[in-house]
Amino acid sequence: MSTDTDTRAPSRPSAAPLPANTPGLSEFWRLADTAKTQTEYLANERLHRLADAPFDVLQKILIQYRYFTIFYITDLALLVAKLPFGELRSLLADFLNDELGNGDHDAAHERLYDNFLMSLGLDAQELDRDPNRANLRLLDTLQQRVTSEGPAYAVGLRGMGGECLCQIYLAAMHEHFSKNPAIRERAKDLDWVFWDIHTGEVDIAHREKLKAALHEYVLENPDELPELVRGYVDAKSIFEQFWENIYSDYLGPAAASKRRAATAS
Ligand SMILES: [Fe+2]
Repeated sequence: MSTDTDTRAPSRPSAAPLPANTPGLSEFWRLADTAKTQTEYLANERLHRLADAPFDVLQKILIQYRYFTIFYITDLALLVAKLPFGELRSLLADFLNDELGNGDHDAAHERLYDNFLMSLGLDAQELDRDPNRANLRLLDTLQQRVTSEGPAYAVGLRGMGGECLCQIYLAAMHEHFSKNPAIRERAKDLDWVFWDIHTGEVDIAHREKLKAALHEYVLENPDELPELVRGYVDAKSIFEQFWENIYSDYLGPAAASKRRAATAS
């Protein structure tokens, strides 16, 4: 997951020049570009409220994202297992190693994210207490599809979807929640390691490498392009639903009236 803004075809690092007018490839990057722009818009639309959400609501929303991180790591392992040998497989295995802390569990990203949550004053029991059930079902669906669908679809869904679209939501989360007055007040006491990794140079480098490897994969397997696109399109709608579920639980009109009722009683 990274923070750069360009999803067009990357320049090839060292291989032979790209064949001109490769069928479908330019459309593929155009689609990725459009999906990214739409996702940025929706992410901002949904997440700008993090900047002024009450602190307890903000804590609850931030907890929900941990399930995404936990499932993503397993999905990445399943994806690596089903890919053919090649640059893309080795690269995604490298990302998986990063996610798991490169041999150090204390540096695994799920652990780093929980460290951040605990620095917000949450304890281990609170982290597990109230997962959004609809989102757990969505994440389960994602995982089942990575297992049951073909490699190209799984790459679109979790390789490209996870690294590109998911990152847009992460960047939007970070941008908006870090403006929240309750966060500003506590900023110096918070554990920012997870965010330093996911909104900085490391993720930008990840994403550039992924774009190059994907480009190679599509060139080598042009028949798989429709499946890759199908997986990516599905990832986009699943991510939108994931955040929609969180939004309606904590920030939508129903959440506001529930909150008012709770305060009045
Ligand atoms: Fe990560």
